[in-house]
Amino acid sequence: MLMQDGGREARVPNVLDPASVDAQTVCPGYRLADAVTESDTGMIVYLTLAGEACNVYGTDIGTLKLVVEYQTAHRLRVNISPAFLDASNTTQYLPPEDLLPLPAGDGDAEMARSKSDMEFQFAFGSGDTFAFKVKRKSTGDILFDMTGAKLVFENQFVEFASKMPRNYNLYGLGEHIHSLHLGNDYAITMFNGDIGDPIDANLYGTHPFYLDTRYYKKAGEREMTLLESDEHDTSAEYVSYSHGVYMRNAHAQEILLKETNITWRTIGGSVDLYFFDGPNQADVTKQYQEVIGLPAMHQYWTLGYHQSKWGYGSWAKLQEVVNKMKENNIPLETIWSDIDYMQDYRDFTLDKDNFDAEGGQAFLNGLHRGGQHYIPIIDAGIYHPDPKNASDIYGTFDRGKELDVFIKNPDGSDFVGKVWPGYTLFTDFMATNAQEFWTNELDLLHQEIPYDGIWIDMNEAASACNNSCGTGIVTPAAGARHVERHEGHEEISKSNDRNLELPPYVINSAAGEITDSTISPNATHASGHLEYDIHNLYGHSILRATYNALMDIFPGKRPFIIGRSTFAGSGAYAGHWGGDNWAEWYYLYASIPQALTFSLFGIPMFGVDICGFGYNTTEELCARWMELGAFMPFFRNHNTKKAFGQEPYLWPSVASASRAALHTRYTLLPYLYTLMHSASSTGSIVLRALCWEFPTDPSLASADRQFLLGPSLLVTPVLTEGAITVNGVFPGISDGVLWYDWYTGARMDAQPGENKTLDAPLEHIPIHVRGGSVLPLQEPGYTTAESRKNPFSLLIALDKTGHAEGSLYLDDGESILPTPSLEVGFNVGNMALYVRAEGDFAGDANPISNITIYGVEEWQGRAVIIAGDKEGDMVSVAEKTSFEREMGVLRVGGLEGYSQDGAWSESWVFMWK
Ligand code: NOJ
Repeated sequence: MLMQDGGREARVPNVLDPASVDAQTVCPGYRLADAVTESDTGMIVYLTLAGEACNVYGTDIGTLKLVVEYQTAHRLRVNISPAFLDASNTTQYLPPEDLLPLPAGDGDAEMARSKSDMEFQFAFGSGDTFAFKVKRKSTGDILFDMTGAKLVFENQFVEFASKMPRNYNLYGLGEHIHSLHLGNDYAITMFNGDIGDPIDANLYGTHPFYLDTRYYKKAGEREMTLLESDEHDTSAEYVSYSHGVYMRNAHAQEILLKETNITWRTIGGSVDLYFFDGPNQADVTKQYQEVIGLPAMHQYWTLGYHQSKWGYGSWAKLQEVVNKMKENNIPLETIWSDIDYMQDYRDFTLDKDNFDAEGGQAFLNGLHRGGQHYIPIIDAGIYHPDPKNASDIYGTFDRGKELDVFIKNPDGSDFVGKVWPGYTLFTDFMATNAQEFWTNELDLLHQEIPYDGIWIDMNEAASACNNSCGTGIVTPAAGARHVERHEGHEEISKSNDRNLELPPYVINSAAGEITDSTISPNATHASGHLEYDIHNLYGHSILRATYNALMDIFPGKRPFIIGRSTFAGSGAYAGHWGGDNWAEWYYLYASIPQALTFSLFGIPMFGVDICGFGYNTTEELCARWMELGAFMPFFRNHNTKKAFGQEPYLWPSVASASRAALHTRYTLLPYLYTLMHSASSTGSIVLRALCWEFPTDPSLASADRQFLLGPSLLVTPVLTEGAITVNGVFPGISDGVLWYDWYTGARMDAQPGENKTLDAPLEHIPIHVRGGSVLPLQEPGYTTAESRKNPFSLLIALDKTGHAEGSLYLDDGESILPTPSLEVGFNVGNMALYVRAEGDFAGDANPISNITIYGVEEWQGRAVIIAGDKEGDMVSVAEKTSFEREMGVLRVGGLEGYSQDGAWSESWVFMWK
């Protein structure tokens, strides 16, 4: 079916076209071709078409090779690819290993030993047609079940499906703006594009991974029944098991979530599935990150507050913002430059009038002296000078040509797109010299303006042309715009030729066809890969190159990069912001599921444009957004050129809401940094959904208007206009979990499942501390560097048995790991806190000033620190101490004297009676 779109006939995406052919109705599926080769660690099976080729959206592949590998005790790989791969077609079916390393397993010997303990059981059948199942041994549950649907494997279309229980709980599969719980009526498209944050459509990045959580109602000791409805009863006991599935395929793809089935479709490549057995979210996420890589560890300062705006038009303007933030006593850590700083929007240049190098150096010297930082933007497109204008000279272009680093058309000419500066080329990060080129350009810019990190934008890559711009300065992309359109499967060529521009299966991309607003699918990379096959990896490739460059430019220091387009594994190189959201209340809410989903994707350094990117924000929305943003790892206010400024000092209420939220955030920096370190060293997550922290409560499966920062802090933001109260649940209450108001220590009085109404006047965001936690805190300074010079303190929130625990990680905040570090463990029980410090990092020798304890029932007025030779008597410390009996809050101050050499210079004990 065709629609008119300007001069060209626009095709209706398959998922929206009731008349499109359902491959399941016309394709034969596959059957076993041969004997099965089984080993201790897996099996190999050859499959052959079970009937006449259907060639529904491409050309059927006659023989497939299925490889099952038990890779680790918790990971199963199922790969199905064409049986005959050679130099002519490998790049089409297998993603580049260099960019997307093949995950190594534990090795045959190890797996042979542990296979019998594995949770997963793989089984296949070849009844009518071939299908496989993955079963979880401990529950007997089938987690992935292809029976009932056929495998379709063509050169431009792959489809497989799995049966699902009713009301299944899936999370992940991004990037998109959608509720956290994906539901069972949603078609997800993954094709990286520059699209201003539409709801339920494809966005900048691709993450083909989902988490699947299944709840079981307990009946008696061993009996459990799978919960298949979203109704649950508060008196029953539940458990949950989670597993994860990753599809290592970089093609445009769609996942159709239907009532009792999920269907996966790609327009190329192979089936390469990785199953992770969990059994809870934390395990699944860690197992997934063993495959895609752990997130980068960022510098300490990156956790400070960032201010940006498209339209900050000069060094003077940047200085003005820096000054005003200071005058208004709103902490500013980093000021950002959008494309305004460039000469005619050309990467690696400076606007000669408003952003001269000398002025920049003066500005940056002052900024750095104040412990603050600067981050400029770099776009993916490299300006192509006008060949008819001899004075149009652009060194970056010349050097790139010299090193032969640009993406090509099939005829070997440069592929030309269009971005802000005009016609542009795109660096081919698969080209031999690309890294050298990119590092050199970033280095030259750094020599002119010593920036502290890089913001990578438009790296989907965005282009204002559909296909090649074909400007005449280069040969237009061969075949552009003259491809025959195939409407029915009969007409598709039976050869291995592919229709790269208008693949027969039409994905539902918000940008239009896959040729539109990006690099043409027939553009060719130096590795031989066509853009068609690796489009979704382009953003990832530039992030990696930027990371490598910054490793050279800042030797020994952790690179800081925030990028727009990402793929599975990009977290190892960069953080991510949510792109062009809108200054609307909906997007304030949406930032929570966005951030939580990126927790699952291994990109903890996530935030959105605070106060909204497009449209003019409002005072109230901006105040609420500053409050919420303060609890996300990447905290940056940014908006578009056309909209009014939205710096937090512009309205008194936003200023004071920001001061308050930033005060809390900076107080929490040691806790936040510890969480970030644990994410990058173990794969644990920073922002957590309620259902992940409380996995036995099915009523939390869809909760995404509240979230946890780490295990200990529950954030309940106001998300609606005009509200001065907010409803929230307090998870775990039925299991005896206690919650305390962060600000006052008041114990939350809530019933299991009760939706409590909390006071939340405009300048207040409700935060609750989970009983059982010890939070390392520090007195906030104006910058993170100043904060780090201040005394530490501890907040102990007792659980119902009077216990609590926590940890602290510290290092110099900038060196590549491993580096000298300090790990401090906190354990509380029987009115005593045991502090155990280990490590070789001697910095931050600040004393501890006070310890606050929430949940104290009785106190007789005595407390003491016992530390090595500073052992004290159990003395009355009433002077600097207060006990609010009603609230159960004990605040013990004046402890500096006990820790002059630094709070963590040795292990110590603190007791109260
Ligand atoms: C698109 C980015 O998403 C946005 O943040 C930026 O302001 C504009 N490009 C201009 O560079």
